[in-house]
Amino acid sequence: MDGNGRWAKQRYLPRLAGHRQGLESLSECVKNCLLRGVRVLTVFAFSSENWSRPPEEVSGLMDLVVNALMREAAALKEQGVRMFFIGDRAALSHQVTSVIAQAEVMTAANQRLIFNVCLNYGGRWDITQAASRLASSNMAITPESLDGAMAMAHVPDPDLFIRTGGEQRLSNFLLWQAAYSELYFSNKLWPEFDAAELDAAIAAYSGRERRFGKISEQIKPVQPPSTSSTLQKAPPYAS
Ligand code: IPE
Ligand code: MG
Repeated sequence: MDGNGRWAKQRYLPRLAGHRQGLESLSECVKNCLLRGVRVLTVFAFSSENWSRPPEEVSGLMDLVVNALMREAAALKEQGVRMFFIGDRAALSHQVTSVIAQAEVMTAANQRLIFNVCLNYGGRWDITQAASRLASSNMAITPESLDGAMAMAHVPDPDLFIRTGGEQRLSNFLLWQAAYSELYFSNKLWPEFDAAELDAAIAAYSGRERRFGKISEQIKPVQPPSTSSTLQKAPPYAS
């Protein structure tokens, strides 16, 4: 969800106003995903690297998370959304950890949309925490065991990976899981990411051929065999 700061700057507003608008955009995005039957939405809210931002921005972002959850958790529960918070909770304040744990418990019975919020998350953190957990229980490290030990093991790998704000990089998001994701780079700043842009991303995704290492012919649907013994080259009206 990149571009909140630039959105605010364009309007001569403080960066936090951009983050507040970004939250509105996220709320719309959840609704739009529900309307379109999307089963899993994962957003990058705060990275392991975001701690190095000015302290007032960091505390403002944490306050926004707490307030948004206190305000929206009940409505998300009503809408059938199940929330997960992904990331290292050790560095989060007691207030943040308690409100996110509450939201997870509150929505635990829901199935309509899995909504993963990555908070103090980094793709490298996830790979290393998974590997060290396997190592400390003397388990072999294989692609499958590592996959199962990742913080995102409860959902399939993402089909579509959207980066907003005009940047074309992964920035340590879902490094392991995005191995075969289709990437979509949007020039929209996150606060402007609306239903039309979500549809544009989904339309772009729909036009992609996903080969997973195979060749095109292996994945195209098999043509039904012709029922006629002769090859019908001319259209029917020519006969
Ligand atoms: C939001 O956008 C990302 C968060 C860490 C919440 P930015 O804050 O990175 O916005 P820009 O890149 O400065 O525009
Ligand atoms: Mg940014």
